[in-house]
Amino acid sequence: MKILTLHGINLNMFGKRDAKTYGTATLAEIDAELKAIGQTLGAEVECFQTNFEGAMAERIHQAYFEGVDAVLINAGAWTHYSYGIRDALAILKCPILEVHMSNVHARETFRHTSVFAEVVRGQICGFGTESYMAALRTAVSLVQKEAQ
Ligand code: DQA
Repeated sequence: MKILTLHGINLNMFGKRDAKTYGTATLAEIDAELKAIGQTLGAEVECFQTNFEGAMAERIHQAYFEGVDAVLINAGAWTHYSYGIRDALAILKCPILEVHMSNVHARETFRHTSVFAEVVRGQICGFGTESYMAALRTAVSLVQKEAQ
């Protein structure tokens, strides 16, 4: 099983951003934990980060051709306004899980909207790095159940 984790704009700066909101883990640490948990669950986890919207769209197109089993995406601020990323995600046939470290619903109003909402299976937010780990476990279990 192959799970692709996509990290969007500014997420390479985790570890240096506001620690009260985002904790202190770096993106490299998050990716390492995802890969380690993936291994215990029998899933290969690949991680990709970019600050360029077109590069993110192209990585999503590539995921379509690779036939990945599930996608986890924390698109950062793009979540709230990028119809381009939303349309790219809509092309995929596999489950897509939206992830946020912070509880976006308890923050500024502009963060309450996800333009991805209609094209993802669901959203996990507010649990820091555990949002990613919960999304990975959920993705593996969805893929297993849907293969039955
Ligand atoms: C974020 C929440 C977004 O609103 C914000 O723009 C981010 C990070 C999160 O992980 O909590 O960059 O996606």
